[in-house]
Amino acid sequence: MRYYLWTIGCQMNVADSRRIAEELDRLGFRETARPQDADLIVLNTCVVRRSAEDKVLGRLTSLQGLKRHKPEVGLIVIGCFVHDIPSLRRRYPWVDAFVEPSNIPAVVEWVRQRIGDKKLEGDSLFVRQVPVSVGVPISYGCDHRCTYCIVRLRRGTEISRPMTEILAEVQALVNRGAKEVTLLGQNVDSYGHDLPPVALPIHGDGATEVRSPDLADLLEAVHSIQGLERIRFLTSHPADMSDRLIETVARLPKVCEHVEIPVQSGDDTVLRRMGRNYTVAQYRDLVRRIRQAMPRVGLATDVIVGFPGETEDQFEATYRLLEELRFDVVHVAAYSPRPGTPAERLPDDVSPEEKERRRQAIDDLQERIAAEINARYLDQTVEVLVEGRHKGKWQGRTRTNKLVFFEMGEKDWMGKLARVRIVRAGAWSMQGIVEEE
Ligand code: SAM
Ligand code: F3S
Repeated sequence: MRYYLWTIGCQMNVADSRRIAEELDRLGFRETARPQDADLIVLNTCVVRRSAEDKVLGRLTSLQGLKRHKPEVGLIVIGCFVHDIPSLRRRYPWVDAFVEPSNIPAVVEWVRQRIGDKKLEGDSLFVRQVPVSVGVPISYGCDHRCTYCIVRLRRGTEISRPMTEILAEVQALVNRGAKEVTLLGQNVDSYGHDLPPVALPIHGDGATEVRSPDLADLLEAVHSIQGLERIRFLTSHPADMSDRLIETVARLPKVCEHVEIPVQSGDDTVLRRMGRNYTVAQYRDLVRRIRQAMPRVGLATDVIVGFPGETEDQFEATYRLLEELRFDVVHVAAYSPRPGTPAERLPDDVSPEEKERRRQAIDDLQERIAAEINARYLDQTVEVLVEGRHKGKWQGRTRTNKLVFFEMGEKDWMGKLARVRIVRAGAWSMQGIVEEE
């Protein structure tokens, strides 16, 4: 039996798909690259913007034809597309099962029931290779109320995974060869607030206190896993990032100097209408504190342009803030009204052309800034964790999350930390020469 797994969207979806693939492997399935060769098709979906949802609809339509010819093929749809399942069943009757975001046990259960006791081909347990760098969900859902955001509506309120469960998963991944984990959540900074209090060490002191764990505690615990080289975490929320977290990230050697902290807008009125719970001044101060603790930190942010009512002046305030703060990476998106969100009721009054102009202006600015920041890496030696091969070169990332390529030689660098001297630096990637030890 073969399965075809299609994934779009955020790193959470990528991590969920890895776990779905592992479960299907365990049931004796094999992965195939073409839906027409599959006995089971899983679509892991995203609806954060209209463009993502359109891709999902395109997939569903093309699979309707396939299901007509081969009704015995199982078709499961999981991810943020899934809500109001009775209505989805009416609209897409050729889909066999709709599963809410990240509910992987429900996928497994459905498949088990479907195959029953059937013996699958090649039943010998196949152990999938674990990527060198792998995402691990630490919480699901989000308690913020950003007015443009459909994700919180689809994923529900925030639920943290218990620390013991996360630690067991990371340990198992490391045992199978993972070197880097990225702890994932819509808002990782509020991790643990919903977990029962336990005895935890008071930092810098031998004593313990009883309280709910937070992300700093989790980082400490993951840090002690032998064989793990690096830890990242994303996404942070500016209103929830504590000084204790910043201090912990700066202090723990395995935790990379890399913070993803969406600003969304550089104007207080727009931020308020977005429901973001911080001001530009507070955000600026947060960046100052992060940089004070980690002068070489790699900072990434997200921006939405063309939010309802965003004036030219308000857009320019965002542009100037990005010029001032000089991020390493800016993910910029044109505002897209999403069903059921509070912002959907506001007039979408910035034209598509104007949104695109604003988006392009920020992209151009960021290309210049990133090229300038990366030029500072020239002639420097950086630590690169090698994650794979690309066009005859080794490919990996610095602690600050810069993409680096270097020439292949005799040595197998896969999964190893290489010291690489940077000889060329562009806005999106760098080339280097490995310094053999
Ligand atoms: N939790 C994170 C945060 O604090 O922003 C990110 C979650 S959100 C699902 C990922 C990114 O998608 C956001 O940072 C935002 O820039 C973008 N996004 C979300 N809704 C959007 C919309 N309606 N239109 C355009 N971009 C959107
Ligand atoms: Fe969405 Fe805002 Fe949460 S962007 S996922 S409601 S932090």
